Amino acid sequence: MRAIAIEQFGGPDVLRLVDLAPRAPGPGEVLVRMAFASVNPADWKSREGWLKPLPYFAYSFPLVLGFDGSGVIEQVGRGVAGFKPGDRVFVRSQHGNGKWGTYAEFAVTGGDSVAHVPDGLSLADAATVPTAALSAWAGLFDTGALKAGETVLINGGGGSVGSFAVQFARAIGARVAATCSVKNMDYVRSLGAEHVIDYAGDVAAGLRHWAADGVDLVYDAVGIGTMLNGPDMARPGGRYVYISTMVPGEVLPEGKSDVPVLFSTMKREDVATRLQEIAALMVAGKVKPPAYDILPLAQAAEAHRRLQAGRMRGKILLQVDPNAR
Ligand SMILES: NC(=O)c1ccc[n+]([C@@H]2O[C@H](COP(=O)([O-])OP(=O)(O)OC[C@H]3O[C@@H](n4cnc5c(N)ncnc54)[C@H](OP(=O)(O)O)[C@@H]3O)[C@@H](O)[C@H]2O)c1
Repeated sequence: MRAIAIEQFGGPDVLRLVDLAPRAPGPGEVLVRMAFASVNPADWKSREGWLKPLPYFAYSFPLVLGFDGSGVIEQVGRGVAGFKPGDRVFVRSQHGNGKWGTYAEFAVTGGDSVAHVPDGLSLADAATVPTAALSAWAGLFDTGALKAGETVLINGGGGSVGSFAVQFARAIGARVAATCSVKNMDYVRSLGAEHVIDYAGDVAAGLRHWAADGVDLVYDAVGIGTMLNGPDMARPGGRYVYISTMVPGEVLPEGKSDVPVLFSTMKREDVATRLQEIAALMVAGKVKPPAYDILPLAQAAEAHRRLQAGRMRGKILLQVDPNAR
């Protein structure tokens, strides 16, 4: 199978288009013919070797990158119920568990790491979802406990996690303010943010025009020290949630005594159920996919260069199956 793999950690140039033999799915696993691989910041961090110190990160070379994407079930392993060859699925990969990821014509993953893509959602739209949307959901709801009628400030509303976060918050009836750069302001408004603040300016001052006493929840979907005064922008008794960035030596904000600083990462449990809930919101038109560009699989290095620059609007996808839509 065609795949993008690395033989050593390093810059984008270590990404190589190679030919590898796909493995058969074991018990509890499925083999997916990949349509699109999604490109996430964790991919270039994995490529650079930044994930090596994580206690759960296992790998060997050649290492196929890619944490998620979409595709079509090719083969179902023993003990997997509910899927058959030909089913269109969201895919969370086993990259990082010592196995290969989604930058390949075929990916083997757990039967509990795929979920049906409903009619009405293209495979390209579906590929934008797993990592970004599950992370946004975890940050807002599992960790941030956001409720209808509350106010939320989202740092990085134009990124892939931020694009979903703005829309999820709106979909449950919360009121949303978001930061982004000037180039992304109209885009972030189009996602449903009521108040948009240029992060190059004084965000706290910009927020006071909208929420004089602070917001119920600040969700920092960017991190890396970009919102060290985040807890100050939550109201007394509010919450500040920051996403895990896996950047070595990241400086974190200090909490105020009445605003907890809460860490959030994507949940590994209930992936399929959660993906199904998110897909239902998308089919109902309450949430749309983030803006995305599609590059051929062979241009993975270019995708990494663009993503690593850190100034994204939405997502980049790699087209693995040239005929997939
Ligand atoms: N552990 C997990 O579960 C998990 C899952 C997903 C992502 N993450 C991490 O979360 C972070 C965001 O992921 P992503 O996929 O959303 O990344 P992304 O699509 O690359 O978006 C990053 C966003 O950051 C914004 N930004 C850049 N500099 C900023 C600043 N100084 N202040 C505020 N915003 C700034 C950019 O906005 P402009 O384009 O408007 O400049 C861009 O939209 C990454 O570090 C990623 O590794 C963790």
